[in-house]
Amino acid sequence: MNKQNLEDIDTQDYPHLNRGLEGITAFTTSKSSIDGQKGELIYAGYNIDTLAEHASFEEVAFLLWYDRLPTSDELDQLKNQLAAERALPRPVKEYIRSTSREAEPMAVLRTATSMLSDYAPEGSGDGEQDNLNRAIAMTAKMPAVIAAFARVRNGKEMIDPIDRGSTAYNFLYMLNGEEPGEQAVKTMDLCLILHAEHGMNASTFTCRTICSTQSDIYSAAAGAIGALKGPLHGGANTAVMNMLLELDKQGDEADPVSFIKDKLEKKEKIMGFGHRVYKTFDPRAVHLRKMSKALSEETGYTKLYEWSEAILETMKSEKNIDPNVDFFSATVYYSIGIKPDLYTCIFAMSRVTGWTAHFLEQAANNRLIRPRALYTGEKNLEWTPVEDR
Ligand code: SDX
Repeated sequence: MNKQNLEDIDTQDYPHLNRGLEGITAFTTSKSSIDGQKGELIYAGYNIDTLAEHASFEEVAFLLWYDRLPTSDELDQLKNQLAAERALPRPVKEYIRSTSREAEPMAVLRTATSMLSDYAPEGSGDGEQDNLNRAIAMTAKMPAVIAAFARVRNGKEMIDPIDRGSTAYNFLYMLNGEEPGEQAVKTMDLCLILHAEHGMNASTFTCRTICSTQSDIYSAAAGAIGALKGPLHGGANTAVMNMLLELDKQGDEADPVSFIKDKLEKKEKIMGFGHRVYKTFDPRAVHLRKMSKALSEETGYTKLYEWSEAILETMKSEKNIDPNVDFFSATVYYSIGIKPDLYTCIFAMSRVTGWTAHFLEQAANNRLIRPRALYTGEKNLEWTPVEDR
């Protein structure tokens, strides 16, 4: 079929034709505010810098779900509920043990999260409290799925969660099979805070779209994981690390500036840079950059951080583009021993709080999400029998 060129089509009936919905405001929300010019990120009233300095991931999760910070009793109750929900249902563990050891971790997380709906102990209702309980259950179990697969694929036994410690603590404990160090826990907790929520990104939009049909919260989370998996979205952090490891293969010849300039010459997108909304430094990258620097100095392995700074300068001078949340998170996770193909899973186990907060908000004031599409094909073609085609 011949397609018409957009320029030749009368689009007056389609005034909001913005590819990728760029610049379109489709919702109101109390979950976060992003000022792309100022480089400001607010979670339900609190600046990300304030939360990075004072909050725990569990307090941020409560803030996103309830639009306020928890009292001491409420925080203890949430921590107890997360601890009680961390253990995985046996069939999910059997799936993780039996699936291909070459499977992509995000694909395993997507499948396992979907399976959790078959074993949802939080009741069968679809009221707000039922969905909140499911949100808490997923937030508790996703780290266990990720850690379990990371070990099983290397021929190791799964480590069961322990009933003390934070989400960050338990994740590192289940992943490594030993008590995590205080610095590693603090680093992981801050990374979970920085990745928890970010307005109408592709995965959150996916989640709200699935919610808008009155489907269930597990379907919405599984769909969101699928969206986050892509390298233009959450998959960028893994791609950043793979890019740095590709550069490292050049050994003593490695030169980050020419490496990046070559890629730009070839019109390649440099992972970890640019953003649809931020037209300045991503405020989350400010904290991740500090962490990456501190960890590189602590470990004495400063090469990847130094290369990152050189790449940052090159992107600024060549394209006037700043890093986003994915750029320095790569070297932060690498510094605490996380395998690169697990980085996007860590993004997901944090962003499930933002996704589910948006699900609750959408469900409370729902309207089916159904935009339009401008048809550019031909119409009412004559039928041609197959023998004549
Ligand atoms: C996340 O939405 C969110 O909030 C997402 C997120 C969240 O917390 O949920 O912040 C998390 O997903 C961060 C983004 C992670 N993705 C990457 O790092 C992948 C690399 N980045 C690019 O693909 C890009 O910057 C996007 C996809 C993030 C945003 O792209 P846009 O808004 O669609 O902009 P564009 O692709 O139209 O680029 C505009 C110009 C182009 O130049 P020209 O073709 O006009 O000359 O900027 C250039 C692009 O080529 N450009 C880049 C670039 N990003 C934009 N050039 C090289 N490398 C890049 N990374």
